[in-house]
Amino acid sequence: MSFKPQPASPRQPNRCQLFGPGSRPAIFGKMASSAADVINLDLEDSVAPADKAEARKNVIEAVNTIDWGQKTLSVRINGLDTEFWYRDVVDLLEQTHGRLDQIMIPKVGNAGDIYAVDALVSAVEMGKNSKKAINFEVIIESAAGLAHVEEIAAASPRMRAMSLGAADYAASMGMATTGIGGTQEAYYMLAPDGQKHWGDPWHAPMVAIVAACRTHGLLPVDGPFGDFSDDEGFRAQAMRAATLGMVGKWAIHPRQIALANEVFTPSKAQIAEAREILAAMEQAKRDGQGAAVYKGRLVDIASIRQAEGVVRQAALAGEG
Ligand code: COA
Ligand code: MG
Repeated sequence: MSFKPQPASPRQPNRCQLFGPGSRPAIFGKMASSAADVINLDLEDSVAPADKAEARKNVIEAVNTIDWGQKTLSVRINGLDTEFWYRDVVDLLEQTHGRLDQIMIPKVGNAGDIYAVDALVSAVEMGKNSKKAINFEVIIESAAGLAHVEEIAAASPRMRAMSLGAADYAASMGMATTGIGGTQEAYYMLAPDGQKHWGDPWHAPMVAIVAACRTHGLLPVDGPFGDFSDDEGFRAQAMRAATLGMVGKWAIHPRQIALANEVFTPSKAQIAEAREILAAMEQAKRDGQGAAVYKGRLVDIASIRQAEGVVRQAALAGEG
């Protein structure tokens, strides 16, 4: 480990972030009673410009009146290149009374964007003499966001989580794709026998986000998967994200919630194996050894850290 230890991640369940347009208040109650860990009420791209003011009112009322239980409650504000974002922040913070946990800032390009929102949020909180500090989550969904991902992660003590926004990211990068995340038909290698082998065009930004988040103690999250009738496509994307260290994924339709919860909750078999590895290492310690053999393979002190990660994720999900 470096002289600077890696900070712990926030201890909040974040397997599924369920989105809903702020202009569609009829679904807010269904969102609140869903099995998602995090709720994102949207004021940004799922709301048409003419509906922005009405959506803001709907969302403020929903934050104040709906019972959101133990969920992390977040509102996605409009981007800093719009006329809407400052009023999103000011009205939301002035007109809600302590239930809101986070705001999500889209299309973040550099640490200065976070600084600007932090200054405005801090002023409103001081003006209200607020007891609770609002946290930030951001979406990395542009070339600039990816280029500055680490300074963004470090930009404010309010930072909690970062998501990859595949569709805007692809547009900003000029990628020859359509659709929101998942397998891209044209992204393949040819094996020597001529068979196509599909690669993952989202791999690089996912790894960059995970590294920035883990360095600064934030939660790395995979964003939307647009084809909500393709359960296997969602599952494959989510499993790749989990394998790379992400802790959860967005749901843009209720049928994706159970899929995300399933993938990002360690299975009973994974939990049992992690416990067995920890027990094998306890025995190795008693025997004065730093390494042991578990089911015919090497486990050592690094295996303890991996296994503890699995046990921690399970505990957060209320399993194990
Ligand atoms: N949260 C909770 N419930 C939702 C929901 C959501 N995001 N989206 C739909 N539902 C409900 C519907 O009201 C319906 O409920 P009912 O069975 O009681 O009538 C049920 O789930 C099935 O909905 P369905 O008819 O399949 O979908 P739809 O056509 O009503 O809506 C979308 C489809 C994609 C437009 C809608 O899911 C949506 O707006 N998703 C979020 C989009 C978003 O926020 N994007 C921004 C982030 S990328
Ligand atoms: Mg976007």
